[in-house]
Amino acid sequence: MKEYIVAGNWKSNKSYLDAKGYVVKLNDYPPLDVKTILAVPAIYADTLFQLSKQKNVAIALQNASSYDDGAYTGEISAKMIASLAIPYCIVGHSERRKLLGETDEQIADKIDQLYLHKITPILCIGETMEERNTGETFNIIRRQLLKGVRSLISDSSFPIIIAYEPIWAIGTGITATEEQAGEVHEFIFQILSEVLGKEKAETIPLLYGGSCNEKNAEALFRQKHIWGGLIGGASLELDSFYNIMRIAAKCNA
Ligand code: PGA
Repeated sequence: MKEYIVAGNWKSNKSYLDAKGYVVKLNDYPPLDVKTILAVPAIYADTLFQLSKQKNVAIALQNASSYDDGAYTGEISAKMIASLAIPYCIVGHSERRKLLGETDEQIADKIDQLYLHKITPILCIGETMEERNTGETFNIIRRQLLKGVRSLISDSSFPIIIAYEPIWAIGTGITATEEQAGEVHEFIFQILSEVLGKEKAETIPLLYGGSCNEKNAEALFRQKHIWGGLIGGASLELDSFYNIMRIAAKCNA
């Protein structure tokens, strides 16, 4: 049974005051029956976690260290995240893969750190436009996915959320069509079924991300293997994010 999830990714946006204002305002909106995750800048996470009273809304981080505690200046370890009781963390976002050179191997190490501290990773995978045009989409997805779920292959009790985010759709205003997204989600489900078994694959939420907004969300969310969205730009403004939550709640009903 699909249980929809709407995850917002604020990236490196919002002042401390704006961030607090958003969460306080959201507290007063009517609660919705949809699991919601807000991935906020790490520096505000604890304050927002303390402030957030909205039912079904969890605060998350956008990245974690691939190392344990120790001499890693500037890194935020999974152990630290767990000590704030933050339950989710994005890993492998394409902006980090591209701008900071994160590799599949490092991302898999981050996921292992999160598992050590019982945090659910939200693993982002996706192809560039060039890869799509040269017919590489499925190879890229398979490679990123298999590395990302490597620990689940030996212990399938670990949780994971997967976000398919075609890089050409992120922040561009160009959304994948329902057919394009649906096809890749079907492929992800098939790979997960092969390596983890169909029963486990059916429990793994698969989110779509990339210029998802209140106008296109419903058509995407209605695809068989799409369980909701990872929302960047449209999560920055509370009303548009709340409208997407509403759409997911409707799909849940
Ligand atoms: P976007 O970003 O919704 O602004 O395209 C999505 C993401 O990068 O997670």
